[in-house]
Amino acid sequence: MIDGSGSEGSLGIVTKVSILTPAKLPSTNVAFLSCNDYMSCQKLLLAARRSLGEILSAFEFMDRQCIDLAMTHLEGVHNPLPVSPYKFYVLIETTGSDESYDKAKLEAFLLRSMEDGLVADGVIAQDISQASNFWRIREGISEASVKVGAVYKYDLSIPVEKLYDIVEEMRSRVGDTAEVLGYGHLGDGNLHLNILSSKYSDNILAQIEPFVYEWTAGHRGSISAEHGLGLMKAEKIHYSKSPEAVQLMASIKKLMDPNSILNPYKVLPQSALSPEQGS
Ligand code: LAC
Ligand code: ZN
Repeated sequence: MIDGSGSEGSLGIVTKVSILTPAKLPSTNVAFLSCNDYMSCQKLLLAARRSLGEILSAFEFMDRQCIDLAMTHLEGVHNPLPVSPYKFYVLIETTGSDESYDKAKLEAFLLRSMEDGLVADGVIAQDISQASNFWRIREGISEASVKVGAVYKYDLSIPVEKLYDIVEEMRSRVGDTAEVLGYGHLGDGNLHLNILSSKYSDNILAQIEPFVYEWTAGHRGSISAEHGLGLMKAEKIHYSKSPEAVQLMASIKKLMDPNSILNPYKVLPQSALSPEQGS
């Protein structure tokens, strides 16, 4: 196998795969929590890393706009914390080998976080159907977004302390013309920034780009965090990589795939692969 996920299949063909599948750990617990401000979400992440340590398997983050959207557009889901509209929601999952120990650990963590004022409200799933409802909300945000109409999607990694600033700045840039959602894998420093409008508009796009790329680059982030650059963002690679790094990637690509037939047009800008620039 000669490809790595960073090249999005543009460097080689996978001819053989061997997968090690360790036995699934028997104990999974999921909590759905709310926080009143972004600072509390950050502190909660630190506290979860410290207290849950080896069993922490997910720390997912959503703002209120995401929850409202999920409740409106996803069938059969309900808000586990319907009493009050909180500003932020967090899903925490633990995976371990000891059912009662893991659950007690998560319960104690939740209680302590509420006492410390980091968590406004929270519940732990009592059965598999509650746990899947929690996950469905989080994982359904992308699906719910497309039901609104046009979605401008960005997949960024940003230092956690700055991560929500871009959501707020984007809201003030687009005003009432679009709805801005921020969610993602906070434990990985990842933000999915979705901007929704009923139909596509060049004016909205002009408010978003190149601002989103410049802002991310200016805050030591990456414009392609979990998902690849693909076709749409190939020309934007220079916001995350130096010209030297792009040239190096292009020369490796040309060595292995001189005719650019492997996953063409993805990842690297065409200018970096053109004969004038490469030779
Ligand atoms: C998610 C996909 C979009 O996290 O990566 O929902
Ligand atoms: Zn994701």
